[in-house]
Amino acid sequence: MCGIFGCVLKDGNAAPLIHAALKRLEYRGYDSVGEATLFEGKLYVKKDRGMIDEVHKVHNLDDLPGTIGVGHTRWATHGAPLEVNAHPHVDCSGQIAVVHNGIIENFSELKLELENRGHTFQSKTDTEVIAHLIEETLKANPSLSLADAVLETVKKLEGSYAVAALSQREPDKIVCVRNESPLVVGINENAIYCASDIPAFLPLTNKAVIIDDGEIVILSLKGYEIKKIADSSLVSREPKLIDWSPEMAVKQGYPHFMLKEIHEQPECLRNTLRVQEHYIDLMSSFLDRARECFLVACGTSYHACLASSYMFSKLAFLATYPVIASEFVEQHGKSVNIDSTILAVSQSGETTDTLAALNCARQRAATVLGLTNAIGSTLTRISRVYICQQSGPEIGVAATKTFTSQLSVLAQLALGLAKKRGKISQDEMDFLKEKLKKLPATVETIIQTQEEKMKQIAKKYKDAKGFFFLGRGISTATAYEGRLKLMEIAYVPAIAFPAGESKHGPISLVEPGFPVVFICPKDETYKTLIGNIMEMKARGASIIAVIEEGDEEVRRLADDYVEVPKGIPEVLSPIPFVIPLQLLAYYMAIERGHTPDTPRNLAKSVTVK
Ligand code: G6P
Repeated sequence: MCGIFGCVLKDGNAAPLIHAALKRLEYRGYDSVGEATLFEGKLYVKKDRGMIDEVHKVHNLDDLPGTIGVGHTRWATHGAPLEVNAHPHVDCSGQIAVVHNGIIENFSELKLELENRGHTFQSKTDTEVIAHLIEETLKANPSLSLADAVLETVKKLEGSYAVAALSQREPDKIVCVRNESPLVVGINENAIYCASDIPAFLPLTNKAVIIDDGEIVILSLKGYEIKKIADSSLVSREPKLIDWSPEMAVKQGYPHFMLKEIHEQPECLRNTLRVQEHYIDLMSSFLDRARECFLVACGTSYHACLASSYMFSKLAFLATYPVIASEFVEQHGKSVNIDSTILAVSQSGETTDTLAALNCARQRAATVLGLTNAIGSTLTRISRVYICQQSGPEIGVAATKTFTSQLSVLAQLALGLAKKRGKISQDEMDFLKEKLKKLPATVETIIQTQEEKMKQIAKKYKDAKGFFFLGRGISTATAYEGRLKLMEIAYVPAIAFPAGESKHGPISLVEPGFPVVFICPKDETYKTLIGNIMEMKARGASIIAVIEEGDEEVRRLADDYVEVPKGIPEVLSPIPFVIPLQLLAYYMAIERGHTPDTPRNLAKSVTVK
């Protein structure tokens, strides 16, 4: 997984603009970076391993000449993060440069073939075959245009790709192709851009054209021309106006995107309440009809699925099966059928494991539904019905605001389904809807009143060697999410369990001072949870509790506590209760000297299996 960007400008220098766009794409990968530009018929390339700022310091990415160029920020799949493996990759003659996001599955065969024809490879990447294939195609038929050569080339490729190619022979064009990796085009009066996602060019234009799988697009100052790869037929597609302001994609004064995004949650939750009723209604009709219903996702989105399985059961009396996407094919691939419904939850709408599960389900004629933050993503295109969660772009690698938005949409969906199935009284419905409406303000209060306290707790536990996160019922999902956040950005080994299960093994890890976080809403599990707190306390654990305001009982037991406002219904509780856990992870990362926005070895959108 990587980020690609390209631009053709009327005037000015492409390189600094590419550099800035790559910074906005850094969340897609950041182990190497590179740029290529064309100037006076000559190709210029700079690239190296390391994060963009580090590479820029050493090489000055901004002084490449020319008004046209491409760039890449890498997350290694084939070949270690080394200078030679950084993109752009060039052909033998150094005249053609390509950047690529995705994986070419048959690259070994292609490489061997090309080597037998005399091509010399510099890198261990799958991408480099693309540059050599274009070169080979043009060698065989010199009258072909770059676009035609790219067309011929991609017909030989198996796998996923968003590619942008430049050639000295046609120094006014960028040719891009897409299959299963995201690609968008942006346009204004002075320039045209291609990128892996919209925020890459959002400060430059809000006019975007989504490129579909199996399409090639040729960019020049004349505009863009889209064709189908299969038959070269022209596709006509108007740009869409994107209403994300450029300010939404920058840090707005916060030290990190993650903190900014934690603070944006009240606003996102308000937007999420604007999800159109008829989509909720349509999706709940599909869920109602399903003989079996799977909730499929990865990472944080999986935790949203897990929480929603309690919502669907408690509100609509529908049994659903939350499944981690990478296990779906093995676990359910053979049994899924025309009567199955799969609701996929994916912030990016591009996670390969999730899409692979859906492909399997679609082949078996199951119904696919989607919840995502990315309109135009693959998930929106393959779903019978999809809902956009309206969180706006999330840059921090660790999901925060998109998690609570997902939970809000899923709660609305569970309510819609409960209504359709006649499982909820009018009073209960009105009560829950009212509570949902108040959640943005509740979350605002939690951030305002508890952030400082969480900062202090993080200071106190910053050197802890491990953490437990425990909850019962729907709070199990909250515990899992709290644990993931702490682990991924603060690099603290952490374990989450349903509190009832902790005595079947994990408790043996507890010794005096071991921090255990308990999620303690006053729901039906509360009394039993107190028992679990006592068990941990008896073994000397340090109890950090997330409690409801005024919960004296747990307050007395806890070494440290943070409070959320009273009276939150059980099914909605993960939304407010996860906020202190996000803050704990953030401040632990800061205390331990880590950069929360770009945790090592991780990427925002994982487009490999
Ligand atoms: C990556 C990200 C996580 C995210 C997961 C699923 O692992 O680092 O934050 O939850 O992918 O992403 P999706 O876009 O499918 O929700």
